[in-house]
Amino acid sequence: MVRHASPRLKPRRGRVPAVALAITAPALATMGVLVLTGAVSPGPAALAVLAMLAGAVLVVRPHLLDLAMVEQATRDMAGNRGRPLGTPEIIYSSMARAQMTAVQDMRRALEHRLADQTARAESNALVVDALTDPILLIDSHGTVTRVNAGARALFGRDGAGRPLSALLREPSVLEAVESVLTGGAGRMVQITLPGAIERECEARVTPLSQRDTDGAEVLLTIHDVTKLVRMERMRADFVANASHELRTPLSSLLGFVETLMGPARDDAEARERFLPVMLEQGQRMQRLVEDLLSLSRIEMNEHSAPTDVVPIPDLVRRIANGLELKAEAKGCTLAVDLDPALPPVWGDADQLSQVFQNLLDNAVKYGRAGTPVTVTGGVVAQGPASMPGSRRGPCLHVAVRDHGEGIAREHLPRLTERFYRVDRARSRQMGGTGLGLAIAKHVLTRHRGALVPESMVGEGSTFNVYLPLASDTLAIAPPPEAGSATQTPRETVMADADPDGTARRPDRTGPAPHSIRPP
Ligand SMILES: Nc1ncnc2c1ncn2[C@@H]1O[C@H](COP(=O)(O)OP(=O)(O)O)[C@@H](O)[C@H]1O
Ligand SMILES: [Mg+2]
Repeated sequence: MVRHASPRLKPRRGRVPAVALAITAPALATMGVLVLTGAVSPGPAALAVLAMLAGAVLVVRPHLLDLAMVEQATRDMAGNRGRPLGTPEIIYSSMARAQMTAVQDMRRALEHRLADQTARAESNALVVDALTDPILLIDSHGTVTRVNAGARALFGRDGAGRPLSALLREPSVLEAVESVLTGGAGRMVQITLPGAIERECEARVTPLSQRDTDGAEVLLTIHDVTKLVRMERMRADFVANASHELRTPLSSLLGFVETLMGPARDDAEARERFLPVMLEQGQRMQRLVEDLLSLSRIEMNEHSAPTDVVPIPDLVRRIANGLELKAEAKGCTLAVDLDPALPPVWGDADQLSQVFQNLLDNAVKYGRAGTPVTVTGGVVAQGPASMPGSRRGPCLHVAVRDHGEGIAREHLPRLTERFYRVDRARSRQMGGTGLGLAIAKHVLTRHRGALVPESMVGEGSTFNVYLPLASDTLAIAPPPEAGSATQTPRETVMADADPDGTARRPDRTGPAPHSIRPP
């Protein structure tokens, strides 16, 4: 009459007779009184008692079996034994069936909640792992209980289970953790992590509002601020350098003015001697201010790629022509060996002029007297690794080579830093600002190109410029002022309706070829 999911399930021993006895107790007592008073004879009374007891057992047993099942199901749930949720069919007792359904509903709800919490914990772990900053959880003994992927990468191993001091030998961090563990407030300490490249970091030690499940009480996060520190240092250096560069000619200029206003007031010969020097100092300051302004202008639009199409051979030749006198004065030749049919590049003609103006000027300036300066170039299949990955397709390569004293290897990576000079006195004496290569680097960054200096001491230097090509297949619209029909890039750039470009750009600083805009 009753089918149960578990065939072994039984009511507890002795419970069926005890309940049957309890149910029949009033009837049994009545029967006893009737036998004692002689109203019923003992034989039939005994029969009646047995019949009552048997009936009670038959009625009670299935109920108790149902209850035993509910009890077992509840225990399973409490002990989380993970038994599958069966559907025991309790036919006899509707009350037990309702109870069983309630227990099963509760178990399902708990399982859902548990699954939800597990998923949430897993997703939290994923998020913490995805954070690039190293994160460590530390317990009251100073043992690391958990780390994220960033920390594993930093320490080169999974530090969980090890003392923090075994992973990070930075006394200030260990002290901060100790202090927080003994009730102190959270702290941030600056640390330098050793390695092939030292890293400046901020280590933040924060107390957890309550102990986590692994017993952790403190959270340690490490944030790499190397770039920020470097930038801050560069900013401070830049201000100091710029002020210093301006101060030198300014004090010399003021010195001359004071002399001319004082002791040499009526000294015509001194005036003749001083004025050219004063002019030269003024020009030096002007060059410096112009370079500083162009650097800041270039930086401002560094993130917008240029959209003009610029023919480099044409542009380089114009610049070389402008430098011919200076080269001649040194007995140098300036040979531009660039095929005029080389494909054009996307560019800003003014800015690219500044780049080549400085590279050619440097080559003449730092080249040995009587040696040639050559400009060669062509299309290469791929740019250097320093170019942005997406632009490393075919490139225009232009090499400016001189035969000067060359540049020692250790200076090469620093040449494009502002005001960096290999020989400060020589650069100044030659009228340099020390900003030319910094400007070139920023311009080429904006053009998604690259500048790669190569040099051998005693043999000379080559400055390699790489620029992404303007697409050959691109349909180029004629510039509005040209008013002609559609032209190819080559044809258009050769036709120069505005040779010095002043009509198009009033702020032009150097010669620039005509350029056109894509649609
Ligand atoms: N062709 C070259 N040969 C040797 N040294 C060079 C050459 N070009 C640049 N340099 C070095 O790089 C430094 C930075 O160049 P740049 O930024 O153009 O400044 P400068 O105003 O001095 O020309 C120069 O001062 C010089 O020391
Ligand atoms: Mg220069």
